[in-house]
Parts: sequence; C-alpha cells; structure tokens
Amino acid sequence: MSELLEQQRDHLFYTWTAQQKAAPLEIVGGQGARFQTADGDWWWDLGSTTWNANLGHGHPVMAARLAEAAGRGLVAGPTAAFPDKARAGQLLAEVTPKGLTKSFICLSGAEANENAIKMARMVTGRSKVVARTRSYHGATLAMLSLSGDPRRELFEPGLPGVLRMTDPYCYRCKYGLQPATCQRECAQDLETTLMEAGPETVAAVIVEGVTGANGVFPPPSGYFQRLRQICDRYGVLLIADEVLSGFGRTGRWFAIDHEGVSPDILTCAKGLTAGYAPGGAVVVNDRVARHFEDHVLFCGLTTYAHPLVCAAICAAIDVYKSESVIENSARLGQWLGPRLEQLRSTRPFVGEVRGLGLLWALELVEAGGRQPASAADMDRLYATLKKNRVYAHRRDNLLYLAPPLVIQSDQLEACLQAVETSLDQVFN
Ligand SMILES: Cc1ncc(COP(=O)(O)O)c(C=O)c1O
Repeated sequence: MSELLEQQRDHLFYTWTAQQKAAPLEIVGGQGARFQTADGDWWWDLGSTTWNANLGHGHPVMAARLAEAAGRGLVAGPTAAFPDKARAGQLLAEVTPKGLTKSFICLSGAEANENAIKMARMVTGRSKVVARTRSYHGATLAMLSLSGDPRRELFEPGLPGVLRMTDPYCYRCKYGLQPATCQRECAQDLETTLMEAGPETVAAVIVEGVTGANGVFPPPSGYFQRLRQICDRYGVLLIADEVLSGFGRTGRWFAIDHEGVSPDILTCAKGLTAGYAPGGAVVVNDRVARHFEDHVLFCGLTTYAHPLVCAAICAAIDVYKSESVIENSARLGQWLGPRLEQLRSTRPFVGEVRGLGLLWALELVEAGGRQPASAADMDRLYATLKKNRVYAHRRDNLLYLAPPLVIQSDQLEACLQAVETSLDQVFN
C-alpha cells in the first residue's frame, strides 16, 4: 500500500464498506472518459465516477472557471447577491421543464430531496410521502427512509408516513403483463396507494426520472402523464428526483422531458456540477414558489448557494450547451441500444439490456433462464472488469453502463469490447 493510501486509511473513513475491505483507487488525473491511477494505468470510467462525471475528467473549461471563481476569494452568506448566483438561478429555470422557475441551491442530492420534502409538507400542510419500492434518494436518515434500497434496513424505524408504490420494472412485471397488454398499472398503483392512505394526508410522491442504482427502469410511455393526472386529481405534489437521471444522462436535459411532463418540484445534483464541486438544487413551479411569498421558508444551509457551487453550476451548464453534450448522449444512446441488444442475443447469460441515453443496465441471469446470476459470479465479473481496467457500478445481478456524456463513439465501442471480454471470461 502506498504511503498516501496508508495515511488515508489511518485517518479517514471509506463509505459504504467495512474499512478492512475498502479498495481505494489512487486517481492522479484523467481526460474525458478515462482516468489515470498512480501506477500509470488508464481506466475506462464506465460509471462516471459516482454517476456524476457527466463532463468527463480534466475538463479545461471547468478547471479554468472554478480556478477563476476561487481566485475571487468571495465569502458570501445565504442572503448575498452576486452574479454567478443570479445566473445559476436563471440557467436552471431555462433548462428545467416548463413552469419550473425558482431554485434552492444546496450541496448534494440528499439535501435537495430533504428540502423538496420539507417544502411539499409546508405547501400542502400534509405529511405523508409516496416513494417507489426500488429507489434511492440519498444517505441522510430521512432520505434513506424514503429510499427503496437495502441500505435502509439498518436505520428502521426511520421517517414515519412513508408509503410505497410499485416500479416500472417491465422485465419482472409485478402484474405479469407484456407490452401489448400493459395499461400502465404500475403508474396507476399511485392512485391505489393514495386511496389506501387517504389522499388528503399525502403531501407528495417522489420518483426518480429513471431509477438509477436500483435497476435502471425507463418507464413505459405515458407513465409520467398518468402520475401527473393522479397527482392533480388529489392535490399531491409530484417530485422528480433527477439527481442521477438529470443533465443529459438519459439523452434529454431531464428524464421527465421524454414525456414533456412538468413536475411541481425537480431535484438535481451530480451532473449539475459534473463532479467538479459539490452541488444540488431544488427547482420548483409557481404553485410552490408562491406559497413562500408570505410563508417563511424554513429551509437553509450555511453554504446555501455558495460562490464555488454557483460558479460550477454556471460553468457546467455552459459546457453542456456549447459542446452539445446532451445531443451526444442521445445520439450514442440510439447507437448503444441495438449494440447491447446484439450482445444480449448472443449471450444466454444476459437476460435483458435496458436504458436510455448513456444510462444502461445489463441484467445477468443463469444461462437461458431468469434466475439472477449468482453473487459469486458477479464478484468474479467485478474483479475481471477491474483487471481489464474498466470501472463500472454493479448491484445484485445488474451491471451498469453509465460513461461520461462526452465519450466518443470509438471510445464507447472500445469500452464495450472490454465489457464483452470480461463477461465472456466469467460466464463462458
Ligand atoms: C436518484 C438519486 N437521488 C439522490 C441521491 C443522493 O445524492 P447525494 O449522494 O449527492 O446526496 C442519489 C445518489 O446516488 C441518487 O442516485
């Protein structure tokens, strides 16, 4: 172990792992879709680091704009006014779905969701929240309570008043339906959940634009329109958690844009600053914004709309636009779908490939069946990918492909070949 890793191990925690099992990478730099480790090796970043490196590594504009902002030495509290802050709000209103006008800028996805739920409770005067069975909304105590994620279990009982609705998990459809017979029963489950709880007690439903770490389920068409109708019928606020699926990840600015639906509240982080600074935001419509004209907004952070966060937001949105990053994600996603389908059709251990833009999952199964691939095989796959210098996320029997959105098509093909080789080394 290098001196640096030893020093780090002695005095800092690694997250989501027993400390003894932590396997840190000593990253020294990077360029686009690849990063370099201290041993001189270059890795494909097929996980966009923490699903957030949408603009890749070593982006010169991000580096320059942040250096410039840091050089101003501005120490500004939550009530301060300064140009990057005003512009960040303006840009967020511009790129988020129609009708969303006002932002609350914080530091992370979990904080964005915390504040979204607090706002929904204050606006509606109701307390319950519906979330999906498979979902992730952050690691704070309240957001873990909302998350349909195994990581919640240790922290039960958590936030009271959390209700569950089912997922658009078509490959293992809870209702046993095929596309031709599907009537969007999974979206309709929201109404069933509301009726059971008493809709007048429910403040909001929170759903990811496309479920990320819990499976990548692009919803069937009309899904969000149905949720919108049900929410309107009962005065429940629709919160789109676009922390992972936002900022081009699915080939549109936000995943909900695929259906042209506007939520009441949209939360974002990750791609918002593309990993170059912490950053999160809650963007709300007029109904929510108006409430706080004459009611106190009981939300705030010492570092609310921090100058470096605002600079990173402005710079990232400028780069998304000037380099047509979102268009690149959409274009490569259209190519990737058939390419992965070809991979699936020649490998009986790949049950399904699904995704949008540059957010994909391979569901790995026992050859020819539907039983999930074993944990031992998944461990071997992960180790093999690492040996082949591919960094990717996995969960249970799912392998995720989510490269930086600035990746080029020949690089994506090279990544896929490394993935194919790794899969064949383990499963054939
Ligand atoms: C959909 C979703 N929401 C919220 C979060 C929490 O974001 P953060 O880790 O920035 O708090 C994540 C993080 O992975 C996420 O994927």
